[in-house]
Formats: sequence, structure tokens, C-alpha cells
Amino acid sequence: MRISTVIACLAAIAPAASMAADGEALFNKNCKTCHSIEPGKHGLGPSLAGIVGKKSASQDFTKYKALVGSDIIWDEANISAWIEDPKKFIGKTSTMVAKMKDPEDRAAIIEYLKAH
Ligand code: HEC
Repeated sequence: MRISTVIACLAAIAPAASMAADGEALFNKNCKTCHSIEPGKHGLGPSLAGIVGKKSASQDFTKYKALVGSDIIWDEANISAWIEDPKKFIGKTSTMVAKMKDPEDRAAIIEYLKAH
């Protein structure tokens, strides 16, 4: 009985190791319809190539709306707040509609973005 409890606990911890893979799947599911991770390739949303550490609305993407004139550096905390609730973060309506409520999902997506 005790041993099975230990195994159950280890199984619960294990998924953290495959975070990068989860991030890619989560990105493909929640972001890819609007965002590419190829430099300069914009869709409904701007390219997210190298976005971590970049200044907001700083690309040649003409359809920025809520982010125009914002002065944000996309560090991990800001990206996390933005993808949790864009409207709440910036205080205006945006075409960006993603709402990633799970902090682990947000962290996994940010890890994925950091690698691209
Ligand atoms: C419905 C389309 C759509 C989806 C889905 C979407 N976005 Fe966006 N995203 C946008 C648009 C449009 C903008 C520009 C926002 C503005 O200025 O109003 C944007 C802007 C951004 C920016 C800032 C880019 C910059 O150059 O400043 C980041 C970071 C971002 N999105 C991340 C994500 C992530 C991560 C996801 C998935 C969790 C996601 N987005 C899902 C449309 C989308």
C-alpha cells in the first residue's frame, strides 16, 4: 500500500520533465492560428520569433491595436499576464483573445517561446 502511494506521487511529478514538449503542443493548440514563430511571418497576430525580452509592438506588424504605444518588455511575467487575460493586462480590447488560465500551461508556452 505504501509503495503504491510513493509511485503515485512520482507519477504526479514526472510531467514537469516533458514541459518543452507540452509547450509546443499548447502553442500549436492555442496560439498558432494567429501566431507564427518564424521571424517576420505575421498572421492575424505578429510573429513571436524571439519575443521573450523584446519590446511590445516593435515589429513591422500593422495590425497592432491594444499594444500600440504601450511600453512593455516581454519578460516572462508580462507574457504570462498578457496570455492569462490580454484585456485585463493592457486595459483595452484587443484582437488577441487567448485566455490561458492554468499557470503551468502559461509557463510551458513561455519556455517554448524562449527556445524560438
Ligand atoms: C485570435 C488570434 C490570436 C490568438 C489565438 C493569440 N494571439 Fe497573441 N496576438 C494577437 C494579436 C492580434 C496581437 C496584437 C495585439 C494588439 O496590439 O492588440 C497579439 C500579440 C501578442 C504578443 C505581443 C507581440 C508583440 O510584438 O508585441 C504576444 C507575446 C502574444 N500575442 C502571445 C500569444 C500567445 C503565447 C498566444 C497563445 C497562448 C496567443 N498570443 C494567442 C492575436 C492572437
